[in-house]
Amino acid sequence: TQFKIIAMDGGAAVGKSSTSKGLATRLGLMHVDTGSHYRTLTYALLAAGADAGQPETIPQVLDTLRLSTEIEGRSARLGINGQVPADAEIRSPEVNANVSKFAAVPAVRQKLFDYQRSLAELAREHKYAGLIMEGRDIGSVIFPDAEHRFFLHADEATRSARRAKEGQTDSIAARDKMDSSRKTAPLVCPDGATQIDTGPHTLEEVIDKIATLIEK
Ligand code: C5P
Repeated sequence: TQFKIIAMDGGAAVGKSSTSKGLATRLGLMHVDTGSHYRTLTYALLAAGADAGQPETIPQVLDTLRLSTEIEGRSARLGINGQVPADAEIRSPEVNANVSKFAAVPAVRQKLFDYQRSLAELAREHKYAGLIMEGRDIGSVIFPDAEHRFFLHADEATRSARRAKEGQTDSIAARDKMDSSRKTAPLVCPDGATQIDTGPHTLEEVIDKIATLIEK
């Protein structure tokens, strides 16, 4: 069977991570959460004293950050200077409040572009059946030729309920607005992507539906 690349895009709290991890297990794929890449860079940039309001100072800080990869089960995680920060560190209120600001800076996106594309090779080398990558610009910018592209969405009530369950309180609406309106790689539904409303369905139903579409 052929190596598959699956691009999974959508706004905050629409169910991308649970769906992508479930599909990775079901189909034997390597899973990559690019939201965690932007969170990890944001965490490191904040620790180094960078200010998203002064984007001209960011490239020199980025030059001090060396990217690496740790494979944990099915997921490939981003390390910075040899360390993968803990989930609590990259999901803190401070990172929530700053990640979309740093993600709008072209130098930050540039830092991740080749790295994210190179993960397809890594998945091949590690003999996964394919790669599932979730984010905001995967089907539009990172893998515009991916044969399988999905765009998840859900109504506001479903998304707030999901966030509350995860104990997160940041304004997902504000983050989506910033992500959709930035100039570089905005959150869009990629051309030709299959749109899926996760609101009315259970996680298992969404995974079944997407797995069927991929294997068809
Ligand atoms: O997916 P998650 O909500 O953890 O993503 C955090 C933030 O990272 C997003 O709000 C967005 O600003 C940024 N991001 C991005 N491009 C991606 C993935 C995430 O700009 N491909």
